[in-house]
Amino acid sequence: MRWSEQAAVGYAFGTSLLSYLVDGPPRPFSATFAVTNRCNLRCSYCNCPYIDPTDLPLATVGTLIDRLHDMGIRRLGLAGGEPMLRKDLADIIALAKARGMFVSVNSNLTLYRRRPDALEGADVIYTSLDGDEEAHEAARGGEKAYAGVPEAIRDLIARGKELIAICVVTEHSFAQSEYLLAQAEEVGFRVHFQPQCVDTENTRGTVPESITNQQFRAFWRSILDQKKRGRPIISSTPYLQFLSQWSDFSISAFYDAAASCPAGRGYFYIDPQANAYPCTWTKGKTPPVNLLRDDWRTAWGRETPCTVCSVGPMLEFNLLFQRPLSAALEAARNYR
Ligand SMILES: C[S@@+](CC[C@H](N)C(=O)[O-])C[C@H]1O[C@@H](n2cnc3c(N)ncnc32)[C@H](O)[C@@H]1O
Ligand code: SF4
Ligand code: SF4
Repeated sequence: MRWSEQAAVGYAFGTSLLSYLVDGPPRPFSATFAVTNRCNLRCSYCNCPYIDPTDLPLATVGTLIDRLHDMGIRRLGLAGGEPMLRKDLADIIALAKARGMFVSVNSNLTLYRRRPDALEGADVIYTSLDGDEEAHEAARGGEKAYAGVPEAIRDLIARGKELIAICVVTEHSFAQSEYLLAQAEEVGFRVHFQPQCVDTENTRGTVPESITNQQFRAFWRSILDQKKRGRPIISSTPYLQFLSQWSDFSISAFYDAAASCPAGRGYFYIDPQANAYPCTWTKGKTPPVNLLRDDWRTAWGRETPCTVCSVGPMLEFNLLFQRPLSAALEAARNYR
């Protein structure tokens, strides 16, 4: 990322944070855009491949990105579904980069060998790794899920890309953290652990009953310990502390009138048809704002259906807004 882009993200985040702290109008600095719901895999916990498979054409994506930029978005996460199913993914990344945005891409990397240059323009790549071959395949729908992934990770790192592996904590990955961290140390990536999120349009399945809440909390405490020992874990300390105290992992989010959530104010989620929601989890639970017609800052009703959650990526964002100082210190350590 260029210095000017870093400064733009920092300034946009500052504006967003200030507006959130004084209960001002929404000023999101970051957006996640699912470029498609389509996917070549069928992971046990994900519903994306089963919902609307229609995508926006590239020209319309360009219009959307222009609007996002005009709205103040300086950090764009491209996700899915599987983004690499779109043959124009490199063009989408280029459109966002031309607007000076920081761009991350989430991909399962199973299609990487077909078009290894498609991710070249992205600043950060997030991929999915739920453990060794056996555990990964068990969680992520069979042998198609692992083939080529370790090679793709090594190739991206050899090309100088920052790579973060996301591990969804299920019965399959529960005993896999040591394997993942040893791989990360050997190959040169970092790991983000996230709870299995349930009860939303983008997810499927339930949290395994074979693991008790006490065992889940012990898992998160052990990851926190490993992080303190300097293992390559990108999940933040406040996030790991928070999850070490989550009472019931079969519930991903709830409404507490005493709490407030920065989703929608600091960031939002856009589905493949350009319908925006405060976050991924709220899709189907709150009315969308279509960004090709309306401006999020004025059209959004400024309410979230829940205010407290354990939803992996959202919780990190929320802590960024709710505990900005500790988050900034941690970010400075993470992104030297
Ligand atoms: C929806 S996927 C899209 C990108 C790409 N297809 C992939 O799998 O990496 C983004 C991330 O969300 C994770 N994910 C999917 N369903 C989840 C769930 N129910 N709870 C937590 N994370 C989930 C995936 O494992 C992946 O790391
Ligand atoms: S998690 Fe990713 S790879 Fe798995 S089904 Fe969902 S979109 Fe596809
Ligand atoms: S608490 Fe906020 S970030 Fe979490 S699921 Fe609800 S709206 Fe989304």
